[in-house]
Amino acid sequence: MTNYCIVGAGSRGLSMFAEDLVGHYQDVARLTAIADINPGRVNHALQVLGSGVKGFTNFDEMLDAAPCDVVIVTTKDATHDEFIVKAMRRGKDVISEKPMTTDAAKCRSILAAERETGRTLRVTFNYRYAPYKTEVKRLLQEGIVGDVQSVEFRWFLDTVHGADYFRRWHSQKKNSGGLLVHKATHHFDLINWWLDLEPQEVVAMGARQYYLPSRMPGHGKRCSECNLTQSCAFYLDLDADPKLRALYRENEHFDQYYRDGCVFSEDIDIEDTMSVLIRYPKNIQVTYGLTAATSFEGWQVAFNGSLGRLEAFEPECFVAKTEARNFKERSRSSVRRAVDWRQATVEDAPDVQNLAVKFYPLFGGVKTFEVTHQSQGHGGGDRRLKDHLFRGVKDDPMGHAAGSRAGAMSILVGVAANQSMAERRLVRIEDLLNENSENKIIQEAGL
Ligand SMILES: NC(=O)c1ccc[n+]([C@@H]2O[C@H](COP(=O)([O-])OP(=O)(O)OC[C@H]3O[C@@H](n4cnc5c(N)ncnc54)[C@H](O)[C@@H]3O)[C@@H](O)[C@H]2O)c1
Repeated sequence: MTNYCIVGAGSRGLSMFAEDLVGHYQDVARLTAIADINPGRVNHALQVLGSGVKGFTNFDEMLDAAPCDVVIVTTKDATHDEFIVKAMRRGKDVISEKPMTTDAAKCRSILAAERETGRTLRVTFNYRYAPYKTEVKRLLQEGIVGDVQSVEFRWFLDTVHGADYFRRWHSQKKNSGGLLVHKATHHFDLINWWLDLEPQEVVAMGARQYYLPSRMPGHGKRCSECNLTQSCAFYLDLDADPKLRALYRENEHFDQYYRDGCVFSEDIDIEDTMSVLIRYPKNIQVTYGLTAATSFEGWQVAFNGSLGRLEAFEPECFVAKTEARNFKERSRSSVRRAVDWRQATVEDAPDVQNLAVKFYPLFGGVKTFEVTHQSQGHGGGDRRLKDHLFRGVKDDPMGHAAGSRAGAMSILVGVAANQSMAERRLVRIEDLLNENSENKIIQEAGL
């Protein structure tokens, strides 16, 4: 029986880990305690989890008092490093939510702590575990495309999910690293894992194009204090949603964490439209794009190789109803469904049943590999990841388990992309891993 403590009693801490530890995995795991700086969210967690779990508002006090083998970190991104390093220095292994951290200095301190303590860190790259993404890995591992020459990868976030990053702490780079770290860490990890290579150089462009103050003149700071609730397509009523009310609304007086910040706020500093070019060993070029304001959500990838091209496409959801301007209506699962948005008759389009990976051999023809569509969390990845984490791994032929090196290599692409945008230049990953070269570059650039 392994003892776990969680730091971060927000949405992910509870729904992904805590609830399953006291339920689904109680035969192999014991959740002894949960901590959060917000006492209201600690109390909420204790009500949900029952009397076997203790609550704390201080991480060190939790580790002093509660039996713990493994710490699970589910706080906001920019604080992950603090808890990962402290836990390892106190002799604990760690499971951290993605992104492992948000900048190069924090990344180096995590890698150093792991090296110095001999403890282990797992980063929860749930996307790897989704059967459809695993099928892409299997085909590449078999060498179906020959020598990979280039990769095209695009990710779309819709006006429900994409907009949510502009409402709260994610909207500030100091908290999340921006979407190229917070969100794209998943995508850069997939590319690294699919190719089984580490990235070398990055150049990027990005801008806030849609969620701009000028799009909603007269907006308030947050939805609950705004005069434009009737006309705004992003009006979120926290009080109308029992989960949002219990987790955030009723506890906002403790820490002024407002879950319904205006998506058009002046002080947002993250991009919603980003393009990145990454060079890998063997001169493989990867082009990546992320858009956070489309009517559909999903992704497309293609690998061009010496034997042909492999394509994958997953429509995750689509606002199939025409003119669903009301946010609540648009968020409803009967309106925002997993349908193929390329079909003409969208409103009565069938839900996706199967996904296909297609291989186009260089000199003609096509081979199709079908995978059953999974509607559970993150394409079926969440449950498989948790089974791996909590029930243990006997063998791992696809290399699903991700450690600190994978965590670092995925966030450093985003960190390099942020730096490339700010300084208008190409950034080498190696320089971010090496403190001396990073300092030299900062001095030379006069930053
Ligand atoms: N893998 C995935 O698919 C996935 C999905 C959602 C979220 N996440 C990750 O999970 C983490 C949490 O996200 P969320 O959606 O639950 O956010 P959230 O805002 O609901 O919860 C974050 C919690 O951290 C707490 N917190 C912030 N600073 C703290 C500190 N210094 N000490 C203690 N507690 C602190 C907050 O009070 C809050 O309760 C993030 O890192 C996010 O990237 C991953």
